[in-house]
Amino acid sequence: MSCARLGLSLLLLAALGWAEDERGSEDSAHPKREGPGHSHWSYADKAQWQSSFPDCGGQRQSPIDIDTNSTVFGHELQPIVLAGYNLDPSERLSLRNNGHTVVLKLPGSLTIASGYSQEYRAKQLHLHWGSPEGPGSEHTVDGRRYDGELHMVYYNPSYRSFEEAMRQPGGLAVLAAFLQVGPEDNVHYQPLLEQLPEVQEEGKETTVAGFNIKGLLPSNLSRYYRYSGSLTTPPCFQTVNWTVFNQTVLLSQKQILLLESTLQGDDDEALQNNFRLTQSLHGRKVLASFQAAISARQAPLPGDGSPPLTPTPDGATKRSTDRAPRAGAGCSPCADSEKQLGFSLQTAHVLAGLFGVLFAVTALTFLIYVHKQRSQNRRPASQSKPNVSYTAASMDEQTL
Ligand SMILES: *[C@@H]1O[C@H](CO)[C@@H](O)[C@H](O)[C@H]1NC(C)=O
Ligand SMILES: [Zn+2]
Repeated sequence: MSCARLGLSLLLLAALGWAEDERGSEDSAHPKREGPGHSHWSYADKAQWQSSFPDCGGQRQSPIDIDTNSTVFGHELQPIVLAGYNLDPSERLSLRNNGHTVVLKLPGSLTIASGYSQEYRAKQLHLHWGSPEGPGSEHTVDGRRYDGELHMVYYNPSYRSFEEAMRQPGGLAVLAAFLQVGPEDNVHYQPLLEQLPEVQEEGKETTVAGFNIKGLLPSNLSRYYRYSGSLTTPPCFQTVNWTVFNQTVLLSQKQILLLESTLQGDDDEALQNNFRLTQSLHGRKVLASFQAAISARQAPLPGDGSPPLTPTPDGATKRSTDRAPRAGAGCSPCADSEKQLGFSLQTAHVLAGLFGVLFAVTALTFLIYVHKQRSQNRRPASQSKPNVSYTAASMDEQTL
């Protein structure tokens, strides 16, 4: 019975998703005041990015949800090898609040020496985070959003500049790592975090003494996911070779809170939830450098992606890791028990299924009706306001 119900719920969800898609394209049909390439964008109006930046509506967009059961083992995916990351304190790096994130400029001497079919040179790193109310990674794994995400951005040095490389296929690479609350301070993040108050306002810039940049990444650089995608902010160019590490990076609750509550973006508002929603794969494959089936049986490493064990001091559902809907909760319980059930139960099963189908058809008809009504009564004034603030991650997921 639960299988039939699950199937029907999925059908309904699909129908709802379809209705949302239609609404989205309706919205984008309205001309915007701002022309193409306009540089003012915000996370509050991310549904409208594509009207000013057409690539944001493309078929190879990032971030994505990584469904670990659908990844394909890529035996050619060698461990990531980094060179030149232990910077001398005499080297000063620029740190800037650009209104969307905090960016640390990196010298081109930092390279990815191995792990890709070509060498890449560093350009900058930045972070994505949520708020004290919810997590804020950009990628999700099996529907789960992590507290934050580090992006180290690289370009292919066979192009003259980063700006040229970002427009070319294979021009960019990003190393991504999930940030997660752990039991203690992460000393590697301290040089960066302690400078955040210096760049509180949008546009502010300071310098940071060189430190070991590699320490910001997980220690295990051999377990990762690889796929082709895009910049996760406008102009959303689809030129990024993504690496998303399987091992997470642990920061203390205090450090994550500092990240979530120090910076300001537009209009002096707190800079929070600076993540884009996950985008459809549109048939893309996600490769894994490791075989999940084997590793799943191994004892979990610290920070390997298991839920944080430490309870949050300020309580509540704050670091709840189950906010995001989990896909594929599965039909296995019914498959196991069905064999023992008698004929009458089978009949009940069929009847329940029939009623379910009837309900689904009615609901679908209703949705189609509502959609038609909406299309007929297009009111320009009824557009969703760009100022809506998205706080709860779970709410965001449903707008997809
Ligand atoms: C790491 O891989 C394991 C095994 O596939 C998976 O269960 C876990 O969710 C992954 N975590 C991340 C952050 O990728
Ligand atoms: Zn990013």
